[in-house]
This record gives sequence, C-alpha cells and structure tokens, in this order.
Amino acid sequence: MTKSPATVIALCLSAGLLAGTAVAQNAQSRADQLVRYRQSMYNVLGANFGPMANVVQGKAPYDAREFAMRAERVAFIAAMLPEGFVAGSESGKPTAARPEIWRDRAEFDRLLKDMQSKVGALSDTAQGAKSVADVKTAFVAAGQACKNCHDKFKRD
Ligand code: HEC
Repeated sequence: MTKSPATVIALCLSAGLLAGTAVAQNAQSRADQLVRYRQSMYNVLGANFGPMANVVQGKAPYDAREFAMRAERVAFIAAMLPEGFVAGSESGKPTAARPEIWRDRAEFDRLLKDMQSKVGALSDTAQGAKSVADVKTAFVAAGQACKNCHDKFKRD
C-alpha cells in the first residue's frame, strides 16, 4: 500500500527528530568520555606522583629505578592530557574542571605546558640520579606546577 504524502512527510519529520536526538545523545556521551579520559589520566598521574612525594618527604626509602620509572610514567601521561580538554567537554559527567578553562584557554594551556616541561625535566633528572637529594628540586618544581593549575582551574 502506498502511503499518503502527508504520512510520508510525517515519517520523515519524526525520523529527523529522532536523528536530532541521537546527535544530542552522542555529543553528551562524547563529553562523558572526555571527562572520564582526563580524570583517568589525572588518576594515573596522582597514583605515580604520590609515592614519589613520600620518597622526597623521607616517608619512604629512595629506590632510584622505581623513582625514575614513576617519573617517566608521569611525563608520558602528561603529554596525553590536552586531548581530554577539547571544546565540548565542559559539561558531561560530574567534573571538577572549572568552566574558566574554556574561557581562558591560553592561560590553561600555558600552565599545562609548564607542567609538561617540569615533569619532563624531573624524568630526565631521575634517570641519572643516585640519591633523593638529586631529584628533590626537580620534584618540588613539578609539584608546584600541578598546584598552580589546580588553584586556578580545578574545583576542590
Ligand atoms: C593545566 C592544569 C592542570 C595541571 C598542570 C595539573 N592538573 Fe590535575 N587536574 C586538573 C583539572 C582541571 C582536574 C579536574 C578534571 C575533571 O574532573 O574533569 C584535575 C584533576 C586531578 C586529579 C583528580 C582526578 C580524579 O580522580 O578525578 C588528580 C589526582 C590530579 N589532577 C593530579 C595532578 C598531578 C599529580 C599533577 C602534576 C603532575 C596535575 N594534576 C597537574 C588540572 C591540572
């Protein structure tokens, strides 16, 4: 049976509406994915940074190989972070990222780059280090770079 023109138009319209809904849902789940991506990256950063902080504070013994391995992981992950902050990921899953990130992107990117360069220097320093004294300054500089961004762009 052939459908009347009115029915065909109605079908097309409802298909269009459905497609619109699907696009909106995809954008939302994409935002969720990005939020999850960056939170996972930061989680790995923190999980490797914490044990290094304990060593620097004298709460755990210094193991040159382990320290260098953790510093290398942090530098590797830091390079992957910018992808977690693309436009469209302001909303989505509950996020501690402040909306100012997307309004003052130049400052956020500057702090991100600064952290990347500090953790890169920490990783380089840790490679040849023999004692905690050799890595302390580079570690403190990296930790300060984390804090500089959190103070400005992360909710508590
Ligand atoms: C350029 C900004 C910036 C720098 C630099 C930065 N962070 Fe963050 N960090 C954030 C933002 C924004 C969030 C919140 C992400 C979200 O919830 O979407 C976050 C979240 C976190 C979290 C919580 C992750 C979770 O479970 O949700 C940890 C842990 C963390 N950062 C550790 C670090 C460490 C360690 C460093 C330094 C090596 C660092 N961050 C450097 C911006 C930064």
